[in-house]
Amino acid sequence: MIKIQVPATSANLGSGFDSLGIALKLYNSVLMEECDGADITTSDGSIVPTDEKNLIYTSAKFLFELCGRQFHGLKLVQGNNIPMTRGLGSSSACIVAGLVGANALLKNPLSKDDLVNLAARLEGHPDNSTPAILGGLVTAVFDGNRVYSVKVPISGRLKFAAFIPDFELKTEVARAALPEQIAHKDAVYNLSRAALMTASLFSGRLDNLRVAAGDRLHQPYRLKFIKGAQDIFELAYKYGAYASFISGAGPTLMAMVNVTDIGFTDRVKEELSASFPNWRMSMLDCDEEGATVLDAE
Ligand code: HSE
Repeated sequence: MIKIQVPATSANLGSGFDSLGIALKLYNSVLMEECDGADITTSDGSIVPTDEKNLIYTSAKFLFELCGRQFHGLKLVQGNNIPMTRGLGSSSACIVAGLVGANALLKNPLSKDDLVNLAARLEGHPDNSTPAILGGLVTAVFDGNRVYSVKVPISGRLKFAAFIPDFELKTEVARAALPEQIAHKDAVYNLSRAALMTASLFSGRLDNLRVAAGDRLHQPYRLKFIKGAQDIFELAYKYGAYASFISGAGPTLMAMVNVTDIGFTDRVKEELSASFPNWRMSMLDCDEEGATVLDAE
C-alpha cells in the first residue's frame, strides 16, 4: 500500500486568471492499493463518492489505461483536510492523487512532466493542478496539449492567510458568471498586473503586490457570490496584508502577509470572531514539494 500526499492550491492570485497558482501546506492524503473493484472509505468521516465515479479512482484508472495496463480496481482511504468546494484546489488534489498514485503503483512509467500535462487535461486549467504536483509558486500555460510552466520557491518571504467562509461556491457557477468577451483595456489591465505579480514575487518586490493583484477578468463577476468579501479584504489590508484576492473560483479569500508579521494572525482572528463569525482564518506556508508518495507498509 502507498500513501500519497497532495497540497492545497490557491489559483489566480488576483490578476493571473487561469495561469498562476501556489501550493500550500495543507494536505489531503490517500492510502492506495490495487484490489478488485472500488473499496473506498475516508479516515476522517468526510463524505466522498465511494463508487467508481470517485475522482481519485477515475483519474487512476485513466492512467492505468493510458499506459496499457490492466485495471481491476483500487482500495482507497481518503484523508480530506482541504475544504471541499471552497476554492482551495480539492478537486485538483483528487485528480493529482489518482494520477501520481497510479503512476507509483505501476513503478513510474510516466515522468513528472507527463503527470503535469495529464492533470491539466483532466482538470481543464493548469493553475491548480500544476502547483499541486510541483509545489511552490507556479506560472503555467496550457496549450490544450502540454503545460509550459515555471516553478519558483517563495517560502521564507510570505505566508498566506486563507479566509474560509461557512458556505460553498461551485466552480461551474463561478465560471458561468464570467462574460464571454471583455474590453481591450481590461485585458491590458490584467496582463500588466499578472506580469507585475510574477516579476515582483520572483524578485521579492513585495510592495508591488497590492497593485499587481488587481483584476478585471473574474473577481468583479464573482464577488456577488461571496457575501462579506469586501469587508474581509479591508480587514486583511487594515492589519498589513500585502495583497488579497479570491482564492481560485472562491469563496475562500487569500491574503499575502510578510512572514515576519507575527501579530497579523492574532489581531485578525480576534476581529473575525467578533465581527465575522461565519469566516475562519488559517495561516498557511507555501509548500515547495508538491505531491509526494511514500510506502505505507
Ligand atoms: N482558474 C480557475 C478559476 C480556478 O478561477 O475558475 C478554478 O479551479
